Amino acid sequence: MNAAGTQSSAPPRAVEVHLSAVKRAAHIVASVVNPEDPIIITIDGPAGTGKSTVARQLAARIGLDFLDTGAMYRAATAIVIDHGLQNDLESGTFGRILEKIVDADLHFDWQTDPPAILAWLEPLNDRIRKPDVTRLVSHIATISTLRKHMVQKQRIIGHQHPRLVTEGRDQGSIAFPDAPIKFFLDADPAVRASRRAAQLRDAGHTIDEAELLDAILERDRIDSSRADGPLMCPHDAIRINTGNLDIEGVVEALATHAIKILGRPSNG
Ligand code: DC
Repeated sequence: MNAAGTQSSAPPRAVEVHLSAVKRAAHIVASVVNPEDPIIITIDGPAGTGKSTVARQLAARIGLDFLDTGAMYRAATAIVIDHGLQNDLESGTFGRILEKIVDADLHFDWQTDPPAILAWLEPLNDRIRKPDVTRLVSHIATISTLRKHMVQKQRIIGHQHPRLVTEGRDQGSIAFPDAPIKFFLDADPAVRASRRAAQLRDAGHTIDEAELLDAILERDRIDSSRADGPLMCPHDAIRINTGNLDIEGVVEALATHAIKILGRPSNG
């Protein structure tokens, strides 16, 4: 399966060789990371760059925990919709929204893979991927008081899980500015739209790719232009264009950079 979520047409042997290279790169990172040392790796970037999958695979292969911060904003959005607070969002009065989200005590169940997000101790995994949540989430993510609350939670998670790959939009810029390894994944909006379309088609949905592209561009616009924690490439992040790479290729690129940054010679 490539980054677009479609079956790769590469011959089996080529895939085997490629995958083993990724595993070897990840193994080398694992071997240069002292299992006692804290290490935070941030991965930011827009939707459709394969960020979540890449972050999760990188974390698994080098033995770190994985934090999906988008799930936190999605959970907040599901709560707003399901508690009838959308009018407060439209009128710009955020007090009750924040109160409800604080009350939900959002946190992750670290026993599941990937960690499930819980609100009032109930898992919200399926709910947060529904289209109504996806449509509204970038608006919810503009609420500054909510962002402060989320960043505070993310830093607490960083203390509790100091060996972490965390992905989102502001992880390298705001939540963990001192992280030793930062990545920014990007790809042309049309490439990102066609990846999302392929994923949705695989899941049995009928897709209008032009509409999907418009939605992605609109989400990019809102995410990049908000006052707090806008989507941006941190000045000290490594920027990777994932347009021509499949998931394994991206994980390999990240693992290779991580080896360099950790400052140990590669012995593989
Ligand atoms: O990565 P995702 O599609 O699950 O993110 C959902 C939304 O949450 C996206 O529109 C941007 C927002 N988000 C954010 O503002 N800050 C983060 N750290 C993570 C996600």
